[in-house]
Parts: sequence; C-alpha cells; structure tokens
Amino acid sequence: MKIVHTIADLRAHLAHYKRPALVPTMGNLHDGHLALVRQAKPLGDVTVASIFVNRLQFAPHEDFDTYPRTLEADAAKLEAVGCDVIFAPSEQELYPEPQTYKVQPPTELADMLEGYFRPGFFTGVCTVVLKLFNCVQPRVAVFGKKDYQQQMIIRRMVQQFALPIEIHTGDTLRAPDGLALSSRNGYLSETERAEAVQLSLALKGMAEALQKGEQNIAQLEGLAMKKLTDRGWKPDYLVARRRSDLQAPQAGDALVVLGAARLGTTRLIDNLEV
Ligand code: PAF
Repeated sequence: MKIVHTIADLRAHLAHYKRPALVPTMGNLHDGHLALVRQAKPLGDVTVASIFVNRLQFAPHEDFDTYPRTLEADAAKLEAVGCDVIFAPSEQELYPEPQTYKVQPPTELADMLEGYFRPGFFTGVCTVVLKLFNCVQPRVAVFGKKDYQQQMIIRRMVQQFALPIEIHTGDTLRAPDGLALSSRNGYLSETERAEAVQLSLALKGMAEALQKGEQNIAQLEGLAMKKLTDRGWKPDYLVARRRSDLQAPQAGDALVVLGAARLGTTRLIDNLEV
C-alpha cells in the first residue's frame, strides 16, 4: 500500500489505472469505513482511501481542532483490508490558498436537517468532495448511508455536474447493541456509550410504528424527541421523511427516519429506512 501526500504524487501513482475506486474519509477509521473499502475493492482496478479533516465543513464552535488525527493506525487498518493507496494531503496541499470557489448545493436539500443545524456544512462537504474527485479522478466512489443526506447531496452533485463517477452507498455498520459506528463515538464516556444506543432505538420505534400504519407523523416525531429529551439528550431532529428527496412524506412514499441529537458534548446522527 502506498501513502501519498501530494496531488502530483497521487496522479503519478494512479496514471496507469483506468478505474480508481475512492472512499473519502476524515480518518480515525472504524469498521464502517473498512466495510466501505471492502465494498469499493471489486468495483475498481485500484482502491484509494482519502484521509483529510476538512476545515470547510466545520463551524467555528465545532470539533475541527480536536477531531482525532490517527494516520498511522488508519494506515494499518486500511492495509489489512487491501486498500492500495492512501491520499492524505495536508491542508496546505489541498487548500494552498483560501478556497473561495465553493460548491453551493440547492437549499431545498442542503438547508434542512443537518444543513439547518450545521449551516454551511454541505457546502464544505461538496467543495472538498469535488476537489478530492478532481485529485483522484475516480470512476467509482463509495459513501456510507449513515450520512444519508450527505450521500444524497453528493449523488445529485455528480449528476448535475455530469461527473463520470458511479456513486455507491454502503450500509451502516452497528455495534452489537445497535449503536451506529461513528468516529465521534470515541468522544463518549462509558456512561454515555451505554446510553448512546437510545438514538437508534428511538428511530427503530418510529420505523416500527410507521410499518404498523401510524399516520400521525408529527405526533410520532414529537414523542421520539420527548423520549430522548427526558433521558437528558438534546435532540436536533427526529423525523420521518420521503426517501427520494427528504421532503415531508405523502401517503404511499417510501420513508426514512432520521435523527440527530447531542449526548453531553457529543452530537450523534443515525437513520433507518422504513
Ligand atoms: O463523511 C465524511 O467523512 C466527510 O464528510 C467526507 C465525505 C470525507 C468529506 O470530508
């Protein structure tokens, strides 16, 4: 496995491949990321994982400075699952000057849910992902379904810019108790870790009620928010949305339930297709 830090080295190394498959990450890898790399491997002729903590997608009060940078451990994990190339640029390499050209995703998709609670988040994500795509020039890229809104926004960006890249999504991996794997789970204390599964349980409860035919979505969402609030969480949203565009559902739509909530100082997100 090769680790490259510059765009020039990356391009030189990938020059002879026809079908790079990319898994973009911010590092601090867990089994969910590794599953995406395993998924990417048969889809291309070389598998690339990028590791870059992207300042543009963090608000000033968020965890950019403390986000764990664990390149050595990440490299060992990636090598073990057969990744061929790690692209780990410095900030100076990826943003040698302020990134004033940015990708602005459409408000109807990017300013709700995650985008509402993290203004500018999807502009930061789309901008870095487009830039990573330009560096790696993949034919395939794999994103996790845990970031449901993110993978949808990226898929549409690729479509609207006619980028020659197939976007694949990988299922969310869960701990034995059901907690969705996330780099941010590492911030949880032992007590918080035991409590953390309640977010996915709340979503599961919503999904089961919808499967049984519950029609009163506003009430269902309100009850799920209250359940978490009563346990000491600070939920941002627990909602049932139409899978195709994350808008409020109409009768007969395929649904997804999505949630984001803060436990102590850690913000967790999760979702379940109904
Ligand atoms: O999902 C992530 O880890 C990040 O948002 C991504 C896609 C690597 C862009 O920085």
